[in-house]
Amino acid sequence: MAKKATPKGKIAPKKDAADELKDFMIDGLKDLYWAEKALVKNLPKMAKNATSPHLARAVNDHLADTKNQVVRLEDAFKALGIKAEAVKCEAMAGLLKEAKEIMEETQPGAVRDAGIIAAAQKVEHYEIASYGTMATYAKLLGEKAVLKLLLETLREEKTCDKDLTKLAKTEINIKAK
Ligand SMILES: [Fe+2]
Ligand SMILES: [Fe+2]
Repeated sequence: MAKKATPKGKIAPKKDAADELKDFMIDGLKDLYWAEKALVKNLPKMAKNATSPHLARAVNDHLADTKNQVVRLEDAFKALGIKAEAVKCEAMAGLLKEAKEIMEETQPGAVRDAGIIAAAQKVEHYEIASYGTMATYAKLLGEKAVLKLLLETLREEKTCDKDLTKLAKTEINIKAK
């Protein structure tokens, strides 16, 4: 049978495109696995370029969380009975590229610190959205072990975001102004 043409404006799915919610969730977890590993590599750069010791500490504390989050995702793959696999997350790659550009475009000091917080919060918001969605899927699919792991990480991401907001409001943005 001849292959049906894809109507204009519609996206043709790839051969291995997910057909079930569980597969779609696994794809999302693979993206997050790449993203967290990329953060383990990139957060030290952000901490090193921070002038405020409070900001450097906040980023380094979250680096420790992030290393645990990598392991938690490995545990989630294990709970699902599949091999841990990282698939490049274009969104996180873009956010990290932006973080690097912000550091290149600002002088060391309060303004660069404000930029680092802004970049870090974009990362956290992306993670909160992603883990929130994955947790919803895990709950729907009855994957209790996975759900527990995702909720634990989600809580850490939200705490980090709140801490960064507080630091921006009480110190960094004021100095930058
Ligand atoms: Fe994370
Ligand atoms: Fe995070």
